[in-house]
Formats: sequence, C-alpha cells, structure tokens
Amino acid sequence: MKPIRLGIMVSGRGSNMEAILKEIDSGNLAAEVGVVISDNPTAGALNILAETKVPTLVAERSAFRDKESFEKVLIGVMIEYRVELVVLAGYMRLLGPTFIQAFSGRIINIHPSLLPAFPGLNAQRQALDYGVKVAGCTVHFVNEQMDGGRIIAQAVVPVLPNDDVDALSARILKEEHRLLPQVIGWIGEVVKMPQHTH
Ligand code: GRF
Repeated sequence: MKPIRLGIMVSGRGSNMEAILKEIDSGNLAAEVGVVISDNPTAGALNILAETKVPTLVAERSAFRDKESFEKVLIGVMIEYRVELVVLAGYMRLLGPTFIQAFSGRIINIHPSLLPAFPGLNAQRQALDYGVKVAGCTVHFVNEQMDGGRIIAQAVVPVLPNDDVDALSARILKEEHRLLPQVIGWIGEVVKMPQHTH
C-alpha cells in the first residue's frame, strides 16, 4: 500500500510530531512526512527534525502582510511536497478560510481535552479548574472554529485526586502519542481504498 503523504504543522515542543515519525520508522504506520512547517523559529520540534532528513520550513506569520498571504504560501508548500493530509501537531494558530478551503476535509488536529469540553488554550488547566473526573484528548477534522470540527477519535484518562497540570498533561500526552498516529493510519487506509465503480 502506498503510504499517505503528510504535511505536519507545529509551533512548539514537537512530541506529537516525534510520535508520528517514530511510528513511521518502526513500520507501524504506513505514512511518509512530505514536509514539516513551523510558524515558530524557536520551536523544539526543529531540534528533533535536525536529526532527520524530513524537509522542514519555518514560516512566521509576522513576515507576511496578512493571514491570507501567509496561508497562500503554506498552501504552495503543501502542494509542492504533494501533501495528502495536513496534521496539526501542536500548531497554535487558528487556520483561516484560505487554507481550510484549499485542504477541505484533509486537515486534522489533536487537542488535549474531551471536546467539546475545554477548547482553546490550557485545556488541562481548564479541566482541573472545572473539577471533571475524566479527561483525555481528541483528534478531529479542522474547520474555522477553534477546536470545532467533526470528532474522529477520543481517548479518556482519569483525573486523580492529587493531579496538578503537569501530572494530568503527561497522562493525556501519552494517549495523544498513541491516538494521533492511529488516526493517521485509519485515514491512510480509507484514502487508499479502491473506489467502487458502478
Ligand atoms: C499537545 O498537548 C496537543 O494536544 C496540543 O498542543 C500540544 C502540543 O505538544 N494541540 P507537542 O508540541 O506535540 O509536544
């Protein structure tokens, strides 16, 4: 089966990106990374990528006149690298209509809460402050609402009595690293399935 080609977008640490690369390397995920784009020149993800041969690009929003011209460049890069699925792995910027329309139905995101609860920043902090007894992560399609598109898969973890943000985040992150590559694998299988002709 031909591997699905990914375009990964990051802003920070890059542990979800690293989990995807590991699953590919170990032969558990039939995918290949066409390109990684970071909107942050100091993202930890870039250090991880420096040890690999994955094509990497830094594109800062501030270098562009407006969001549309920024996103047109992102689209151009994704097309150049023949990307089939865009994976937001800790990409901290809301995508605009220009990008979303160009890759409609082919953008997924990982978020560290059980959506629709706790969208936006500091989801684990929000969960602790609210006092929920279970938390988790969500992989979903991306639309123009923050953390708002159709849910593909979720994983649940308990919130334990003495949890702080770090402890809860670590428990959720372990599930993120499992769930995101798994969903990419599912999508890859669907995309490569032969089409019925009637
Ligand atoms: C993760 O918690 C992810 O769910 C959220 O941002 C964080 C990114 O972490 N969207 P990393 O950069 O993948 O380590």
